[in-house]
Amino acid sequence: MSDPVIIERSADHPAVQLIRFNRPEKKNAFTRAMYRSMVEALDAANADADIRATVFLGTDGCFSAGNDIGDFLAAAMGGGMGQELIDFLYALVNAEKPLVSGVDGLAIGIGTTLNLHCDLTIASGRSQFRTPFVDLALVPEAASSLIAPRIMGHQRAFAMLAAGEAFSAEDARQAGLIWKVAAPAEVESQALAAAAKLAAKPPEALKIARDLIRGPREEIIARIDEEARHFAARLKSGEARAAFEAFMRR
Ligand code: COA
Repeated sequence: MSDPVIIERSADHPAVQLIRFNRPEKKNAFTRAMYRSMVEALDAANADADIRATVFLGTDGCFSAGNDIGDFLAAAMGGGMGQELIDFLYALVNAEKPLVSGVDGLAIGIGTTLNLHCDLTIASGRSQFRTPFVDLALVPEAASSLIAPRIMGHQRAFAMLAAGEAFSAEDARQAGLIWKVAAPAEVESQALAAAAKLAAKPPEALKIARDLIRGPREEIIARIDEEARHFAARLKSGEARAAFEAFMRR
């Protein structure tokens, strides 16, 4: 079986690390093992001076359908979520080098919210961003309840995070969730080129600039923790369990 997350260096730009979601048969839904691999890659980037930027990529027509709902159901049945998702969110916040994403197609749940932690996102025109948290009887995660209203204002953040409305690539660009819209065949090359350009800049100045632009990490971590407390409680609710079972039964 192929690895559900492929971690590699870009052949053309060796200072750029690629994190490719590779579970297309399940629409690149994230499992606990996938979060673990991604945490390792993000930690490795912090520790390795030769890695200057990291790029997230999905597969043809699918970025990610979000957290694996089977894992949500297991947690709802009393198995617990484990620490992997929270570790991944912390690793995103604690990333010391630029994060770039190339989105082509579906970006659901954390497939959308992880882009709030990216510095530059290129998305294809056929992309769709959607966070059906409340429809699954859950609450926003990844500090999206803090970052999204800041970048897109209350109404658009509410439409996305609470009402679960789908945003097209153009909606997402206008909302400031993504940087640019590209043709599907261009997404990967443009994301890599953007990362390679960042990788070529003076790293210390870039790090300071990035930290200033992003603001204090403590505030973001505190919101992740606050959301996670609600999320864990909601996961155990009858309404959430019913929603997960309905999805698994389809
Ligand atoms: N968790 C687990 N499995 C998932 C999944 C998820 N988040 N998203 C998709 N899959 C699986 C499906 O169960 C299906 O598996 P199967 O072939 O073994 O039945 C496979 O991926 C293909 O998905 P399918 O629903 O048949 O494709 P589609 O093109 O009709 O729809 C989606 C794609 C993403 C719109 C739909 O699968 C969906 O709504 N997924 C749930 C998204 C979600 O709510 N994520 C959590 C956000 S917090």
